[in-house]
Amino acid sequence: MNILIMGTGYVGVTTGLVFAELGWNVTGLDPDPAKINSLSQGKLTFYEPGLDTLLLKNLKSGNIHFTSDPEMAVRESSLIFLCVGTPSTPDGGADLQFIRQASENIGRYMQEYKLIAVKSTVPIETNPKLVEWIHNAQLLPIPFDVVSNPEFLREGSALQDALNPDRIIIGSSSDHAVHLMKVLYEKINAPFFVTKPKTAEMIKYASNGFLATKISYVNELSRLCENIDVNISDVAEGMGMDPRIGQHFLRAGIGYGGSCFPKDIHALLYTAKQYEAELTILEKVNQVNQTQSSYFLNVWERELGTFSNKRIAILGISFKPDTDDLREAPSIAIIQQLLECQAIVRVHDPAAKLPSDLLSERLQQFDHVEDTIERCDAIILCSEWDLYKKADWAQLRALMNQHFVFDGRNVLDGKQLTALGYHYHGVGRFMH
Ligand code: UDX
Repeated sequence: MNILIMGTGYVGVTTGLVFAELGWNVTGLDPDPAKINSLSQGKLTFYEPGLDTLLLKNLKSGNIHFTSDPEMAVRESSLIFLCVGTPSTPDGGADLQFIRQASENIGRYMQEYKLIAVKSTVPIETNPKLVEWIHNAQLLPIPFDVVSNPEFLREGSALQDALNPDRIIIGSSSDHAVHLMKVLYEKINAPFFVTKPKTAEMIKYASNGFLATKISYVNELSRLCENIDVNISDVAEGMGMDPRIGQHFLRAGIGYGGSCFPKDIHALLYTAKQYEAELTILEKVNQVNQTQSSYFLNVWERELGTFSNKRIAILGISFKPDTDDLREAPSIAIIQQLLECQAIVRVHDPAAKLPSDLLSERLQQFDHVEDTIERCDAIILCSEWDLYKKADWAQLRALMNQHFVFDGRNVLDGKQLTALGYHYHGVGRFMH
């Protein structure tokens, strides 16, 4: 089977490389010639550990190549993965224009049976729409199947997640399609869950909604912990020892960001409205997330006295470590609030770059941590890159003016920092 990946963003490139690595012949298709050019030369258009090596290796072996020509790409493939973006519409729904364009290209150019697997996160009942769009674009009534095959990989560990998934969800009512998907995933050791397309679509949203709920739950508790002098990290650790609760996604912080959680929660709330159901818990999850960073920034400002004319270093601006992705990153709201408070903001990140139009005399980005924190009054840690966890905090202290460390991810060793003479304060986590 020749595999075609439509959309060479995050999910598309990772999926393509994993199948190329497993020995399949893979083509990556994208209408953006700049992306195709870059990928064909072995250069990723985003930062993700491990993928660059895999790209070079599979380009060399000929297992993967990239093109902008949909006609050729569709004709030469038997299995097509849809990995195009589904951005939010202004009212919180999902914009399906790229899914539709891809479907119409498949319909227009197919000359024999195709299996189309949807990896993009799409609203409930998108599967039948795709069938209709492909069908309407066809010149001849050639058979095809559309299966929903949601992707659960995380940025920063995309490769590991894609090679070792916890489960493979297949939404399809066609035995032939399910059989082909099983052949394709043969070398991946993960349980299969075969269900209706609509259910598969819902599993993806429900999973992301649940993970976001865990985070907002501890984040809201962290506000109470702050007031009753209890460390939320200890509470979460104790809670997580119960296997019914589990230890994952209980780390309190300045809120979740990224390209999935915020968007998917809005999309699920939108779907609920469309179908006249209320998802009040998710509404609150969203609300807690939207207020979490400003809540703690206010707490930290009270501790510092004021942010006005203080030099504040932001360590880590990406929405999480090991990625350069700034989409919905809490750091952006924090920087904006600090600028509104007349602070002088100095930013560092090992991979992410602030857009140049945001930079000013009061907001600068530096290449080295030492330059960033020079004569600063406080450090705010916004994403927990290893570099910061392993930094020589004793040496860094000497460069600062005042020694406040506000740990927005609750990952630094508060006791050690306090012993070194810092004023450490996390999110519902502090040292006296
Ligand atoms: C998420 C899902 O985990 C993944 O299954 C889905 O396919 C895409 O969305 P991703 O957004 O890449 O993946 O990263 P993830 O590790 O889930 O983190 C999302 C956000 O939650 C980050 O901002 C992270 O800092 C935050 N987070 C995570 C917390 O605040 N606390 C936690 O305990 C865990």
